[in-house]
Amino acid sequence: MGADGRKSIFITGAASGIGLAAAKRFAAEGWFVGLADIDGAGLKLAQAAIGAGNCSVHKLDVRDRAGWKKEIAAFGKATGGRMDALLNNAGIANYGYFEDQTDDEIDRQLDINVRGVANGARAGLELLKATPGSTLINVASCAGLFGAPKMAMYCATKFAVKGLSEALDIEFERHGVAVKCIMPWFVDTPILQAGSQGSNENIADAIRQGGSEVYTVEEAADVIWTSVQGKDLHWIVGKAGKQLRFAARFMPGSIRKRMKAMALQG
Ligand code: NAI
Repeated sequence: MGADGRKSIFITGAASGIGLAAAKRFAAEGWFVGLADIDGAGLKLAQAAIGAGNCSVHKLDVRDRAGWKKEIAAFGKATGGRMDALLNNAGIANYGYFEDQTDDEIDRQLDINVRGVANGARAGLELLKATPGSTLINVASCAGLFGAPKMAMYCATKFAVKGLSEALDIEFERHGVAVKCIMPWFVDTPILQAGSQGSNENIADAIRQGGSEVYTVEEAADVIWTSVQGKDLHWIVGKAGKQLRFAARFMPGSIRKRMKAMALQG
């Protein structure tokens, strides 16, 4: 099924959570959506939710550069060589002290959250350049604003996505491609169930204990939709995230104190 002149977006991690909600939102706004994910069964459900006429389906592991090339080519075929936006959203988390994470957990977070985003930006650039007014959207996190305990590797990957976005915002201006960096506070998705191997402790429990707010996937999708129409580079999801960004900027010492107290509580 083709885009038939509609605006188009390619979304990674589109089978679940924020990616799926963004796919629904852009389709509802009349866009054609490329649904990409490693989860084939989830993709089928996403396609059914959005309607086969509004999307193309791409089984893709964002770590696989050859896979990116193939799926972007297929998407370009469906859209007549256009891509108005690329949403680099796929990501994973493992929750637990740094030394308790397995080597595989360390590598997977780096490979999916950082290399996967760089792979997408490189594979998608040609179509983005060919599309006037196009946007590259990278999903980082408020974990890219300050270090947090039991999320060391995750924080490292999200700082990297933020840095990559800031640099590409400057570089891609000469191609006419805008760059947006989305930084959600906690959003209610399966990623919050992620513990480290051999541990049943998860992020959701830690958030509840900390008494923090958790936002909906629709709120996150709304920020992503708005970012495409807006001029800013950084977009925070959630009031709690905006407050923490302010604190991280102007009172970094107090955030570190709070985080250290959290780490000591175990
Ligand atoms: P989710 O777990 O609901 O969805 C992630 C999707 O990515 C899944 O469909 C999964 O199959 C897919 N995926 C995982 N590895 C992949 C790979 N190698 N190749 C292709 N697809 C892959 O998680 P959620 O929460 O929707 O996360 C989306 C993004 O938002 C991630 O980058 C995450 O770090 C970020 N984020 C999420 C927050 C939250 O509280 N939910 C807060 C801040 C950022």
